This record gives sequence, structure tokens and C-alpha cells, in this order.
Amino acid sequence: MKSLFAAATFTLVLLASCTPKATPVAQAPKSATSTAEQLAQGKTIFETACKRCHDLPEPTKFTSVQWVGIMNSMAPKAKLTDEQHQWVYDYVVSVKK
Ligand code: HEC
Repeated sequence: MKSLFAAATFTLVLLASCTPKATPVAQAPKSATSTAEQLAQGKTIFETACKRCHDLPEPTKFTSVQWVGIMNSMAPKAKLTDEQHQWVYDYVVSVKK
């Protein structure tokens, strides 16, 4: 009886270990680098939202540090969301000097 119980327990453990684990939902990596798609979005937003009040500034005219400050003052003017702000910033600093 005792060995039967042990065998049953053993079978249960085996069964349990064969149960497929819940597959973790694939998540987009949270990385600082933006995808080509986000850069393209940023370019489009830049070219449409940033020329409403003045000529489009030349992305290469400012350093990435200067762009932080510019975007902080211009993103609210252009009514960008935080995401759009980030995309536009990523785009302008991605333009090769
Ligand atoms: C609602 C009007 C408005 C919109 C929209 C706007 N700007 Fe401006 N921008 C201004 C004004 C006014 C100035 C000049 C005064 C100042 O610097 O605040 C300016 C100045 C600038 C300058 C010059 C800063 C310097 O130090 O020489 C840059 C670069 C610039 N904007 C970039 C942008 C970008 C990028 C966007 C889009 C995200 C944008 N602007 C959208 C009104 C706007």
C-alpha cells in the first residue's frame, strides 16, 4: 500500500512536469534604440508639425544636447504626445551630420 502510494505520487509528479508551462507573452524589448518605423514616424511628424510656425529647422544644425532643450520647448507648442516627442527627437538626432 505504501509503495502503491509512492508510485501514484511519482506518476502525479511526472504528469505535473509534463504539463506545458504557460508561455510568456512576447513583449517588445524596451530599448533606447528606436525602430526604423519610429524614425519614419518622427520624420513625418517633424515635417508636418514643426513647420506650422517657422521654417523647418535643419536637424544637423543643433547637437543632440541642444535638441533636448529645443524639443522640450517645441513639443508642447506642436502639441506632441510624449511618444511623438520622443520619435521626433530620435529622428532629428539620427540625421547624419
Ligand atoms: C506654435 C508654434 C510653434 C511650433 C508648432 C513649433 N515651433 Fe519651434 N519655434 C517657435 C517659436 C515662436 C520660436 C522662436 C522663439 C523660441 O525659441 O521660443 C521657435 C524656435 C525654434 C527653433 C530655434 C531654436 C534656437 O535656439 O534657435 C527650433 C530649432 C525649433 N523651433 C524647432 C521646432 C520643432 C522641432 C518643432 C516641432 C516639434 C517646432 N519647433 C514647432 C514656435 C513653434
